[in-house]
Parts: sequence; structure tokens; C-alpha cells
Amino acid sequence: MTGYKRVDGTGPDQAAAMQELAARLWSWSSRWHPGELAWFWAEHGGPEPSGRLAHWTRDGRVVAWAWTRNERLDLQVDPDHLDLIPRLLDWAADDSRAVTLLDAETALLEALGAHGYERHDEGPFFAHLRRSLGDLPGSPPLPDGYTLRAVDGSPADAEVRAEAHRNAFSVRRRPVTMTGDDYRAVMRAPSYRPALDQLVLAPDGSPAAAALAWLDERSGVAVLEPVGTAPGHRRRGLAAAAAHAALRAARDLGGRGARVCARGDDDAPAARAAYEALGFRVYARNVRLVRR
Ligand SMILES: CC(C)(COP(=O)(O)OP(=O)(O)OC[C@H]1O[C@@H](n2cnc3c(N)ncnc32)[C@H](O)[C@@H]1OP(=O)(O)O)[C@@H](O)C(=O)NCCC(=O)NCCS
Repeated sequence: MTGYKRVDGTGPDQAAAMQELAARLWSWSSRWHPGELAWFWAEHGGPEPSGRLAHWTRDGRVVAWAWTRNERLDLQVDPDHLDLIPRLLDWAADDSRAVTLLDAETALLEALGAHGYERHDEGPFFAHLRRSLGDLPGSPPLPDGYTLRAVDGSPADAEVRAEAHRNAFSVRRRPVTMTGDDYRAVMRAPSYRPALDQLVLAPDGSPAAAALAWLDERSGVAVLEPVGTAPGHRRRGLAAAAAHAALRAARDLGGRGARVCARGDDDAPAARAAYEALGFRVYARNVRLVRR
């Protein structure tokens, strides 16, 4: 096991390396799309302080990365370099007890099984859904008085967009604190495109819903992350309108397919139902592995 180089750190180079591997390995059997890595990174202005990250290169090419947060391990490994796994698990140490993979990542599942990991499928899980962009239907109607537009990419619009995010995702005991500054950091992500960031304004001008897509130009696959509607405006077709507009913009930029993740269990059915109403279908699910 020679020739691998590990790079630790939580700076932008780490984010770029992870997205580079996710883009190079993308297939419908991948858990990771580079766009959602861009969002997860930028959403909080970088990884949580308790998180640790590393990527491994060989001959100058990124071949694996690992990210520990809250005692769980997320990872991506080039299937040609599964011999890295013991090294990666050593690096993750006590944070390697629980790992989440996509059920379609069969080679990685088998390799981790050989290191004592077992599937624990009880409890909430995320499903992955997809649809083609070639046969998008016409735009769904907006209720009277609501308007739909792309984010204009200006610093001022970041304030409105952050408010849309807070309105949609805050719950009583878990308020979302995203500020205009935080959203400006999202907008600075190299793959962020304002045209793919769609906002619905209520009749009083307040932000009611939003949907952001990230297009991976290499594969032509866009990912929706995130989509949200403020509680007082739900079930009026606003998420459908915003997501549809983001998907149409992705198609206009060359996108051919789209993927989204949503809770797959029946305890939180709204998002999955909303995506299915938009023509998405479940094709895979995340599985949780725990080390014996
Ligand atoms: C999921 C969410 C985005 C849906 O937003 P919305 O604006 O209410 O969705 P829409 O009105 O466009 O719904 C379109 C269709 O989706 C389905 N749907 C939406 N919410 C549903 C629910 N709670 N239960 C069942 N079906 C639902 C319905 O088929 C609906 O059409 P209908 O109202 O004519 O029956 C919203 O509930 C939300 O923001 N939740 C919190 C954040 C979140 O979970 N985001 C998604 C993960 S990133």
C-alpha cells in the first residue's frame, strides 16, 4: 500500500478535492454528487468545528476522502483503490463506528463488511430519487399574487434568499440561523449559478419558497439541494414551481438528468411526496453500517 498521500484540513482545497472525486466517480450508483457537497460545505460556512476531513491522492489524483462529524463517518473511495480502506478507518479512529453508504455502492459495502461493518436499516433513512430533464412537463401554475424569479446573485439578494431558507427550514426547537453573509458564502461556491437558484415571493413580497439546483457539467446531472417552503405557504404548489424552474434552468444549461434526496421512511413523507409529484422516482437508498 504505497504511493498514497493524505491531505488533512478544512480549507477550500479540501472541498475542491472532494467535489473533484465526486464528479469523477459520478454514476447513479454514487452516494455523492459534487453539488450537494458544495451545499453542505457552504451552508455553514465550512465544516463544523468538531469535524475532521482528509483526502488521499495517488499520482496527483484524488482517490478517496473521509469526513467525520458527530461520531459518524462519510466517505468516498475510488473502487480501484479499496486497499486504502484500512488506512482510512485508522485515520477516522473512534469516529468510524457508524458509516452511511448508498445501497448501490456494492463494492464499498462488501469491503466494509470485511472490516466488521453490518447493516442496521432500522430508523429514518434517506432515499435517492431521479428523473430525466429531457421530458420536463410545462411549468406548474403559481397561485394568484405569488411571483417566481431567479436569485439575481447580488449581495442584497443574498439577504432575501437567506430569509427564504430560514423561513422554510426553521422548526420550533431548531431555528435555522443562516444570515445574508452565510448565503453570500454559498454564492461564492465555484459551481453556484444564480439561474439555478429560484425564489417564490408571497403577495406581500416576503420570501415564501425556494429551490436551488447544482449542475455537474461533466455528467449533465443536476442535484436539487435544498428545496423548502415556509410553513404558512405549503400545499399551494410553491415548491413544485420553484423546483421545476430550477430544473428547467439546469436543462437549459445542458443538464440531462436530476437527482434529489428525501426521507424515505414514512415518518417524514412530505418531501418525497413533493418530489414524486414532480416526476421523480426512488432508485436507491442510504444504508447505515455499524462496526461490530
Ligand atoms: C417538502 C416541502 C418543500 C413541500 O413544499 P410545498 O410548497 O408544500 O409543496 P407543493 O405545494 O409544491 O406540493 C406539491 C405536491 O407534493 C405533495 N406533497 C407536498 N407536501 C405533502 C405532504 N405534507 N404530504 C403529502 N404530500 C405532499 C402533494 O402531491 C402536493 O400536491 P397537492 O398539494 O396538490 O396534493 C415543504 O413541506 C418543506 O419545505 N418542508 C420542510 C423542508 C424540507 O423538508 N425540504 C425538503 C428537503 S431538502
